Amino acid sequence: MSYPYTRPRRMRRDAFSRRLMRETVLTHNDLIYPVFVHELEGRAPVGSMPGIERLSIDELLKVGEEMSELGIPAIALFPVTAPDAKSLTAEAAWDDDGLCQRAVRALKSHFPELGVITDVALDPYTSHGQDGLLDETGYVMNDETVDALVKQALSHARAGADVVAPSDMMDGRIGAIRAELESENFIHTRILAYSAKYASAFYGPFRDAVGSASALGKADKYTYQMDPANSDEALREVDLDIGEGADMVMVKPGLPYLDIVRRVKDEFGVPTFVYQVSGEYAMLKAAAQNGWLDERATALEALTSIKRAGADGILTYFALDAARWLREA
Ligand code: PBG
Repeated sequence: MSYPYTRPRRMRRDAFSRRLMRETVLTHNDLIYPVFVHELEGRAPVGSMPGIERLSIDELLKVGEEMSELGIPAIALFPVTAPDAKSLTAEAAWDDDGLCQRAVRALKSHFPELGVITDVALDPYTSHGQDGLLDETGYVMNDETVDALVKQALSHARAGADVVAPSDMMDGRIGAIRAELESENFIHTRILAYSAKYASAFYGPFRDAVGSASALGKADKYTYQMDPANSDEALREVDLDIGEGADMVMVKPGLPYLDIVRRVKDEFGVPTFVYQVSGEYAMLKAAAQNGWLDERATALEALTSIKRAGADGILTYFALDAARWLREA
């Protein structure tokens, strides 16, 4: 009987050596909190996302306070547009006095240190729920949509957004937005490009939260968001966005797409972000509520895995809880 000289279990035997050889350590500095803002008073729960609520601007400021205490670096805003403000042409998206713009100004005036990220996409503002403007056949027109996105991004920058994050997947929008920001002297406004955004079924609860699900109906976003079956195409999208002036790129969703995250990080080495989306949150929450999974352990494992795959930062609905759990740990 021969025994192994190499015993990987030796290093796993005690906490001290497990701690010393740990490669990935998740901290509050890795988290970005996505928040839904509405025009109503107070808070309204999102049914399919237990623990997540739509907030008035007053309530948003309370969350800003909590985030500052927890040391979370940035917030990502998602406005819920009232149905009567939606239209075919989405002009509410670049209203300097719109909900998103007011929310940005309120946050920046109370918490100048907190990074504020805005979503650049038309779906909260279109009556049909698509991320762009439609031609007579219902096809989302690229260049006309980019013109609208440029106006929206500029309006966010004027309101004081630190980062604009185009999540629409139109071609050429990063270059067009960058050119406009430069020419209007917003040289510090960062662009976080949703470069590899997949046409995912995991966005369901988000569409409920912002009210675009009913507008969208049975329609899909396959003509602009990426096919979940593709990987090389993600590298091409990231390459284009970096060339057009993106400061950061994003892969979305998270857990089912960690192979993409690793490829992007290895290939480009740029700041790479991952969105753990609404459906990923809903799955863990639902299982935890049934007592089938340990919420804290599974959420922290998922977030650590996303970081291990190459993420520099993670948009997650668990951000507040995760920061608290990490503080206790
Ligand atoms: C819209 C947008 C979506 C999400 C972020 N921005 C939904 C979509 O593309 O339909 C999804 C986020 C989530 O599911 O948590 N441009």
